[in-house]
Amino acid sequence: MKILAIETSCDETAVAILEAEGSTAGARYRILGDALFSQAHLHAAYGGVYPNLAKREHQKNLVPLTIRALTEANLLKQNAPGTPMQLHNFSGVREEVFRNDISDFVNHYEKPEVNMIAVTRGPGLEPALWTGITFAEALGSVWGIPVLGIDHMEGHIISALLNPADGGHSAGGNRELHAADFELSALQFPILALLISGGHTEFILMKEWFKYELVGRTKDDAVGEAFDKVARLLDLPYPGGPEVAAHARRSRERGAAHDIVFPRPLANDDTCNFSFSGLKTAVLYKLQKMPELTPSDKEHIAHAFEDAAAEIITIKTRRALEKTNARVLAVGGGVSANTKIRSDLAALIANEFPHTELRLPEKTLTGDNAIMIGIAAHMRATRGTTPTHPLIAEGSKKLADQA
Ligand code: KG4
Ligand code: ZN
Repeated sequence: MKILAIETSCDETAVAILEAEGSTAGARYRILGDALFSQAHLHAAYGGVYPNLAKREHQKNLVPLTIRALTEANLLKQNAPGTPMQLHNFSGVREEVFRNDISDFVNHYEKPEVNMIAVTRGPGLEPALWTGITFAEALGSVWGIPVLGIDHMEGHIISALLNPADGGHSAGGNRELHAADFELSALQFPILALLISGGHTEFILMKEWFKYELVGRTKDDAVGEAFDKVARLLDLPYPGGPEVAAHARRSRERGAAHDIVFPRPLANDDTCNFSFSGLKTAVLYKLQKMPELTPSDKEHIAHAFEDAAAEIITIKTRRALEKTNARVLAVGGGVSANTKIRSDLAALIANEFPHTELRLPEKTLTGDNAIMIGIAAHMRATRGTTPTHPLIAEGSKKLADQA
């Protein structure tokens, strides 16, 4: 089965072409084409993602990225000269330029050999999501292939469960992502997913495929949001997570004294919930008392903040594992790229939960990408969630509904 996958929930426009075989009992994936454009540098001026800019950029980039991914996959053929132009009226696409781009694209090229289109249907920024969804629906209707809407957070869970395979079918382009193909082996349940991103911080228990229970979540900010806000306080560019992490690492390498300690909010309550807004405020108060901030002060603050964030995540993960007896801990979302958090969680599992398996995404799959969306769609399809056209909403149960 070949899948064209599209992700536009936030500030990454991503299109991937996957070849999938197998089922939830064991599956293999070849990434035939992969094109991703990060808009982060464009949003940096706003200090966060600006939804209408994200939408405009998705509209501008979706067709070129789709052409790039399909070309890389060797699936794009121009219509034979003289083929009568078929004009399509995409009434769902309101913006004229975008509509014309799609129309030119489908008129210029033959229908590619793909069996299904997968698209992120939420959660995310509405204008950004709708761009991807209307694009997927337009292609699905012209090509007469099913479109399956996928939950973004389910994609992040799956990205953690994948293993790199030894195939190594390098298709060129973004070599980092093509260095290996992926494998999804049979899994032990229950799986506890820790989802840490810019919009979410939550524990989801998966007792079987696609059956989710919310175990705990943040009561206010997401941990990625806290990283981004602390970065702004330290005058570091958006997205702040990697910047704060780099500053913290330099302070740690210097062996800076632990004379700044930020609070660990909700550490002592019995739930698996989080709170990060107080931590960010503690950083703000500390900074107000430090009018002259040297570069090494910034590193020191970043270090103390990252220690607090990593420790609170570790404490809550311990609690969630004790409560759920999960066989697998799967960590997904942009913040799962954080080296300190990864190593603290690895130590927790090694020292206290030797019978639980830790699954972390490949670094290239921690952030938003279309590969995870395509693989989630394949899993859904093989489990009998028959994709239908037009876009079905029912197939991927919104995790947010349960929250
Ligand atoms: O999953 P993601 O790409 O987008 C959302 O769905 O939110 O996550 C983005 C978040 C941002 O807040 C970003 O600052 C954070 O992930 N992030 C990190 C790191 N890399 C990205 N946070 C901490 N350390 C990192 N290395
Ligand atoms: Zn995400």
